[in-house]
Formats: sequence, C-alpha cells, structure tokens
Amino acid sequence: MDIDYEKLMNEAKEAVKNSYSPFSRFAVGAGALASSGKIYRGCNVENSSFGLTICAERNAIFKAVSEGERELLAIAIYSPNTDSCYPCGACRQVMYEFQTDDYEIDVITENSEILEVKKLSYFLPNGFRI
Ligand code: THU
Repeated sequence: MDIDYEKLMNEAKEAVKNSYSPFSRFAVGAGALASSGKIYRGCNVENSSFGLTICAERNAIFKAVSEGERELLAIAIYSPNTDSCYPCGACRQVMYEFQTDDYEIDVITENSEILEVKKLSYFLPNGFRI
C-alpha cells in the first residue's frame, strides 16, 4: 500500500486539538494507519492522578485495536510544543505488538515542517514478543 505520510500527519495535527494536558501543558496527537486503510486518531489524556495518563500514540492504537484492527502500517506523531515528537518507550513496544511479519511500521514525525519517516526498528530494535 502507498502510504500518504502527509495525510497521516494532518490527522495527528487534528487529533492534538483534543489533547487533555492541563498538567504538563505538553499536547500530543497521533494518527495510526491500520492495514484496513482506516486512520485512527489519538491524543494524550492526562489525569489528576498523574500515572493514569495515556499517551496519544497508545490512545490511537487502542482505538484501532478495539475496533477490530490487528495490523498497523504507520503512525504519525505531532506536538506543537517540540520539534520531532518521538514516541516514548512504552508506546514503541505497543506499536511493535501490532506490527506484521512482512511490513515494518513507519513512524512519522515533523521537524521544521519537514516530515521524517523512520522504521519502528530505529526506535525499538529487538522488540519483545511472546
Ligand atoms: N506523551 C505522549 O502523548 N506521547 C509520547 O510519546 C510522549 C509523552 C504525553 C504524555 C503526557 O501527557 C505528556 O506527553 C508529557 O509527558
């Protein structure tokens, strides 16, 4: 499948508008492309009990999986608060869980309005799987 990275990044930019981040004031949005072709948006959702916060990436991925998706092709991540918002370690491992055997997930970030596309193994070599 030809992946429209720009479109996926635009979904992440839409998603960040719903970020609930009053504690960190660090807003994040994500767009996850599943093998069905559907894109799922996610934003970070914080909580007064800080440890309950969910990242934008995992929110998008869990939305996809709970709608029946099992294979991810790409995920775009955007924050207006930093250049190149890279995924945290927990989100990298969750992405890995839904990577297929024949296609490595593309991770898209933006730096000074230029898209960066890297494979998941750049961020997470030797991911864990049972
Ligand atoms: N955050 C994400 O949404 N994704 C990441 O990959 C890194 C961190 C959120 C969690 C928290 O709401 C805020 O950014 C600051 O850590």
